[in-house]
Amino acid sequence: MKITFEKQGDIRILPMFTHDFPEDVQEDTKNWLQESGNFTGKLGETYVEVKPGTENMILVGLGPREKFDYDALRTMSFKALETVTKLNIEKANFIVPEMEELADPLALKAIFEGAMQNDYRFDKYKTEDKEIQKPDLSLCLEAKWMDGKEAILEEMQNVMDGVAIARDLINEPANVITPQTLAEKAEELLSPLGVKVTVYDEEEIRALGMTAFLSVAQGSSNPPRFIRMEYLPHGEDEPALTLVGKGLTFDSGGYSLKPTKSMVDMKTDMSGAASVIGAIYALAKNKGDKNVVGLIAACENLISGHAYKPGDIITTMAGLTVEVGNTDAEGRITLADALYYAATKVNSKKIIDVATLTGACIVALGHTYTGAITNNEGLYIEVKNASEAAGENIWMLPSHDHFREQLKGSFADISNITERGAGTITAGLFLEKFVEDKPWVHLDIAGTSWLTKAEGYLPKGATGVMVKTFYELGKEKIGDEV
Ligand code: BES
Ligand code: ZN
Ligand code: ZN
Repeated sequence: MKITFEKQGDIRILPMFTHDFPEDVQEDTKNWLQESGNFTGKLGETYVEVKPGTENMILVGLGPREKFDYDALRTMSFKALETVTKLNIEKANFIVPEMEELADPLALKAIFEGAMQNDYRFDKYKTEDKEIQKPDLSLCLEAKWMDGKEAILEEMQNVMDGVAIARDLINEPANVITPQTLAEKAEELLSPLGVKVTVYDEEEIRALGMTAFLSVAQGSSNPPRFIRMEYLPHGEDEPALTLVGKGLTFDSGGYSLKPTKSMVDMKTDMSGAASVIGAIYALAKNKGDKNVVGLIAACENLISGHAYKPGDIITTMAGLTVEVGNTDAEGRITLADALYYAATKVNSKKIIDVATLTGACIVALGHTYTGAITNNEGLYIEVKNASEAAGENIWMLPSHDHFREQLKGSFADISNITERGAGTITAGLFLEKFVEDKPWVHLDIAGTSWLTKAEGYLPKGATGVMVKTFYELGKEKIGDEV
């Protein structure tokens, strides 16, 4: 899809708040719609009148004015473009009304995003029944009063490319994305943008002392990789925002084997890693103004004569010992070493990890909210503000000492399982042990990274969640309070 600002074609897309018909809709159409109630302008609702001799317009609902937010704009513009695409219309003019609510750059960004969200497809493996190819759509935006719209358009395109990169990496199956190919993708995508990508192989990971990470990796014949990505516009001496992504390219559960139904989507257990790669792509492409470092401990959790076992006691890079109550709680073990590395081997000012860590997070927050745990509320608020600008939802869970108590092991320092209940919190607090008191936020995206059916403007499958939030967080130095 191409978005331009010149008027072309004769079809108008007209957004409207509920019951608030735009002036240029003909009286008789308006009266008929109002009387019949066929179209009232509910959020995402569309009314199409496109054929010879008619008004040639698509009305699209923004919902009630009092509930207006940028997400309503994303939904409206997504639905408008979805309709246009379905009708095979090649050119349409998106008439952005001169409303106070729409006269700012964030509104424009949201409109662009909704349109671009409509572009994503993952159908490369369908040799038959491929979805209909999308027409190249020229979109005319009559936002004359907004300066800098071209720059905003380009910025948003790069962000959405970052989102698409994350989605593709997650949607690709585990026979394609292995620790090695994930590292290659990171190099291919980021090196040309001036990001320094260093990939450590098994021996180098051992030399770093990441024995906990290696314990999880040892059951697979696909060897692990540790990936370090450095985007440092301010040079090496200035501290960085460090993003750590869980990178299980497949999680069978190990000897604590998952049942078939729970295992089938476990290629997605590297969603955190994918978000980090997509976000660094968007930041580097848009020349973000903060030093950002990405870290990924990539491996597979499988079964073999070499695999780690329930009851094993392993030593982490930090020196803390962990007893393995369940080999399926592997994410926290790999992240323990990656986070300790972030805290001690990177000039990190703040650390954020992002992980498909617990099924419990889906129970607690569903597929709409990412769960958060933190040791620093100031940093959490920064992340929360970024997520609001990005249209992604996060929610902080409480981290009371009662939950920390539960981490104690019987024969080792800590255990990777806890008593029943609050599984997302205890998993997060396990990670806290490895950040060396650096400001840190943990984001559990088990529910938000993957949808079994399309939801609003998000597609079925990988959502690429947190790319936009990390982009908002990393793009500017201002607002960098903590
Ligand atoms: N990768 C899973 C978590 C997960 C579940 C992500 C569903 C996405 C969808 C993680 O490694 C896991 O299996 N966690 C266990 C922990 C438990 C054994 C303490 C879980 O959530 O059941
Ligand atoms: Zn697991
Ligand atoms: Zn996992």
